[in-house]
Amino acid sequence: MANSVVLGMQWGDEGKGKIVDLLCVAFDAVVRFQGGNNAGHTVKFGDRHFALHFIPSGVIHDDKKCLLGNGMVIDPDALFDEVEGLRAAGVQPDDRLFISDRAHLILPAHRALDRAREEARGAAMIGTTAKGIGPAYESKASRAGLRMCDLRASDLDQRVARLLDRIGNELAGYGEPRPDVAEETERCRAWAERLEPHLRNSSYLVNEWIAGGDSVLFEGAQGALLDIDHGTYPYVTSSNTSVGGVASGSGVAPSSIDGVIGVLKAYTTRVGGGPFITELLDETGTFLQDRGNEFGTTTGRRRRCGWLDTVVARYSRMINGVDSIALTKLDVLDTLDEIEICTGYRIGGEVRREVPSTLDELATAEPVYRTLPGWKTETVGILDYDDLPQAARDYVDVIEEEVDTPVGLVSTGPRREETILRRGGRLNDLTGGRLEAVLAGRGG
Ligand code: GDP
Ligand code: IMO
Ligand code: MG
Repeated sequence: MANSVVLGMQWGDEGKGKIVDLLCVAFDAVVRFQGGNNAGHTVKFGDRHFALHFIPSGVIHDDKKCLLGNGMVIDPDALFDEVEGLRAAGVQPDDRLFISDRAHLILPAHRALDRAREEARGAAMIGTTAKGIGPAYESKASRAGLRMCDLRASDLDQRVARLLDRIGNELAGYGEPRPDVAEETERCRAWAERLEPHLRNSSYLVNEWIAGGDSVLFEGAQGALLDIDHGTYPYVTSSNTSVGGVASGSGVAPSSIDGVIGVLKAYTTRVGGGPFITELLDETGTFLQDRGNEFGTTTGRRRRCGWLDTVVARYSRMINGVDSIALTKLDVLDTLDEIEICTGYRIGGEVRREVPSTLDELATAEPVYRTLPGWKTETVGILDYDDLPQAARDYVDVIEEEVDTPVGLVSTGPRREETILRRGGRLNDLTGGRLEAVLAGRGG
């Protein structure tokens, strides 16, 4: 039995969905603890393809319980659409989908505000997903937000009015219409009816699961550098995407968490604005976009691409206590002659190995690269680590050395079956001694 966390070590889209889907055979429940439908998590196996936004990637396995934790922000209409999509694909989530009654609601007005603010920022726009995430977390922090359990309140109309009054004032400042309180209250009432069977006082629920012997996998969204505290502020999302968010966003104590699996893409991508030290604006960047199919799962935007940055990975390892790295998309590098790996930043004539706090320092940082030979061999679908070409194993060795963390899993394709699991590492502990079951579930 083990309770483990899967989270992104870069700027999101590292392949968390794939890793959660693969590992969750060793767990009884999968829990999301932050974010909302800004996330886009892809799961592929055989000829099946799923894109999940709110619902944990474990949902595809019909024996897994799924919880949307209290740290999330939820747009019920988008959630219902996701449930419908799953049903249409033959997945029946209903009786194993639980939603925290303390999770906050994203209202249409939050989405309108997200869009209006981005437009007003012009060139300095964050490049948000426009799902209303930032404004919903702001309502929460300002203590004006609506939680799932507030949908049952007898004075729901007054609560909706208070919230929309504040948002309406700001929207009006941008020349946008004020939301209609009566209409929005009606919308909330309709939501309440559909949501009610799923709502739980979820901190108790998840702790009961653990006390009863269940293993829980916590599924992070976004990545460490998008964390509101630890990321490249203000070019971040509005939640704690790093491991601290697990405790606050689900109600389990840190002592209940046995370990952390950090998902690291073999190169770097970022969607939206903000610093990106190893970004490639040349044909190699375009090559990574095309070969890596780097288009947003949520917004369809082209992802910015660049070399792997181990300054970022070391920082992520530190703030998250990553025990084992799941290295993804190694296959995307298969045809390159040479591969660069960033090991430090040159800032003002000095080489630094830490991520600076200020945008000004980040703006002047130049990557310091170590150049490695490519392997120029197809790795897609290799199942045994020893079958990887020597130069690919050397690349993994450099990552382990620079990040000071073992690589327990190497992904060489989008599908569940295109994954190498290394025996003898921490991954067996992190899956509660069930690595063989994970290997069996991988197939291939
Ligand atoms: P997430 O947000 O971290 O779950 O990642 P996304 O699903 O948004 O983006 C990862 C993309 O890469 C998806 O299209 C996956 O199907 C794909 N992917 C995941 N792992 C691999 C891999 O090892 N190789 C390749 N070629 N694609 C992968
Ligand atoms: P997954 O879980 C990549 C980025 C947005 C923007 C910033 C703020 O699929 O890895 P927001 O809408 O959250 O206020 O946008 O964060 N962003 C992501 N980038 N993957 C994600 O999720 C992201 N979720 C948000 O592009 O730069
Ligand atoms: Mg994604």
